[in-house]
Amino acid sequence: MTFGACIAGLGMDVPVRIVTNKDLEAVVDTTDDWIVTRTGIHERRIVADGQSTGDLAVKACEDALRSAGITIADIEMIVLSTCTGDTNMLPATATFVQTALGASHIPAFDISAACSGFVYGLDIAHQFIATGRCRRILVVGAEAMSRVVDWTDRASCVLFGDGAGAAVLERCPPGQGILSTKIASNGAGACLLQIPAGGSREPLTAETVGTDRQFLHMDGKAVYSFAVEIMGEAAMAALDAAGISPSEIDLLVPHQANIRIIKSAADRMGIPLEKVFINVDRYGNTSAASIPIALTEAVRTGRLKEGDLVVTVGFGAGLTWGANVMRWGQVNP
Ligand SMILES: CC(C)(COP(=O)(O)OP(=O)(O)OC[C@H]1O[C@@H](n2cnc3c(N)ncnc32)[C@H](O)[C@@H]1OP(=O)(O)O)[C@@H](O)C(=O)NCCC(=O)NCCS
Repeated sequence: MTFGACIAGLGMDVPVRIVTNKDLEAVVDTTDDWIVTRTGIHERRIVADGQSTGDLAVKACEDALRSAGITIADIEMIVLSTCTGDTNMLPATATFVQTALGASHIPAFDISAACSGFVYGLDIAHQFIATGRCRRILVVGAEAMSRVVDWTDRASCVLFGDGAGAAVLERCPPGQGILSTKIASNGAGACLLQIPAGGSREPLTAETVGTDRQFLHMDGKAVYSFAVEIMGEAAMAALDAAGISPSEIDLLVPHQANIRIIKSAADRMGIPLEKVFINVDRYGNTSAASIPIALTEAVRTGRLKEGDLVVTVGFGAGLTWGANVMRWGQVNP
């Protein structure tokens, strides 16, 4: 049996603390002008002491449940994407979120696809709904990137921010909701964006902690070149699979990494900037959280309405990438 799946509710949470580019001028050798010109970022949110990825995820999920008009009792699975989980490796952050939401005895697990994680998560959840195994699934993207960036590396620390977004994916008639998805990865680029130490290959030791190897390392230029190509390519592949041309799209919701990457992707697809949702200026790159946060704000500001054709597209460490094409249903703000 094949069912369709559509987003029935959306939610988000970002930390209250705003860190501006000016604030960062006191942390590393940078300027507001450099950051704005090269990235489009003006400010980002940073978690408070003691606040974790899971804490943000719980609030985003509660918001999404409210927006869908349901309770946690209606949810049959939690799929959480993060690269900054509450603990290192185990257990899954999704299990903390499950307990905090008051659920038990449903599968709750993390997936690791970095900034493409929400697109991957939607696809995984879609398969469970399509086969009839589940009726409603929480798909979450949540990150505390500020915990893993190297605050002495000006080339990377200015780019990222913290936050969480969540969607209730729900069974619907085929042909509505998600029309197509493409996900892919290429491990040949794994070293371009990674946290080298802290895993089983290079466990944390007193020596490692004295180096920067437990923090995020990135070859910014290489990731940039990959991103500008793959964003357009992934979105076009998903559109082709749905038999839809870019001119029919009402809204493009790209991963919010860098305004120049977003503009270049839109340009390659021939999509005018008015049809592109952008909030990288206020949140920076929140990795797996960026697309669900953008979708939530798009609905809440009236940019995304019932019947619209929306494309989400992401890329990230792995290297990973993916895109969804959706016919938007009614979602309560
Ligand atoms: C990181 C990024 C913004 C750098 O922009 P860029 O235009 O490529 O800048 P460059 O790397 O050429 O650096 C230019 C100069 O600025 C300097 N610079 C780097 N970060 C800086 C900062 N925060 N402030 C001031 N100067 C900085 C560099 O040291 C370099 O100086 P040099 O020419 O004296 O060596 C860009 O490469 C990028 O966005 N990459 C993709 C990153 C990304 O999206 N990662 C997440 C993937 S999900």
